[in-house]
Amino acid sequence: MAMAPAERIQKLIARAGLASRRQAETWLDQGRVRVNGQQVSLGDKADPASDVITVNGKALPKAEPQQYLLLNKPLGYVTTLKDPQGRPTICRFMKGVSGRLFPVGRLDINTEGLLLLTNDGALTQRLLHPRHKIAKTYRVKISGRLTDRARQQLEHGVELDDGMTASARVDNIHYSARNTWFDLEIKEGRNRQVRRMCRAVGFDVSTLKRIKMANLDLGKLPSGHSRSLTREEIKGLRALLF
Ligand code: URA
Repeated sequence: MAMAPAERIQKLIARAGLASRRQAETWLDQGRVRVNGQQVSLGDKADPASDVITVNGKALPKAEPQQYLLLNKPLGYVTTLKDPQGRPTICRFMKGVSGRLFPVGRLDINTEGLLLLTNDGALTQRLLHPRHKIAKTYRVKISGRLTDRARQQLEHGVELDDGMTASARVDNIHYSARNTWFDLEIKEGRNRQVRRMCRAVGFDVSTLKRIKMANLDLGKLPSGHSRSLTREEIKGLRALLF
């Protein structure tokens, strides 16, 4: 009955906000759900874009198409959609976007780089849940020379006021006379974590840019620009999380 991408009908009913998945399953068992006029049962699928789903004779509101946008957030913008303090927000970069997208997690006002925006609530929840240990890589510049000991501490875990950090990876180290640049991959998402980790081993971060998250890579996307995720990227994210 349905064309790809078909999804379980109970999931579509729940996503439309009509009922929980469990309740929708009961309705399916009770024969109260139809797709294009035909009664369906548990296990059937439908295409939310082209099929008309009715519950007790009433059509399900059309679900908004899911959108996934990767933004290279510039410095000086907060990642909320509204800021009570009136600071510039990332809304500035979402002018042409139809529908409401929400940032997946946050970057500090003085951190730049990869920020995913989406209206896919289930995917957002999973990306942010500590259980999934999603890798995030930051390009860090510190003043001074990163010592071997500090590197090992960052990798093995440092004590912060909210507990020890999990193991992390330091890569790609470059030195100049005054500074060190390196990539730090962490699998947690605590508030200001990278800055606090560096401070805990004796260094102040002078610039911070997120360059990777899960299977997503900022690449050469210019600052302040965004692009839609590719089908492969969305598939890759789903494979990691579901
Ligand atoms: N760690 C930080 O310190 N700041 C960010 O914005 C992200 C990670």
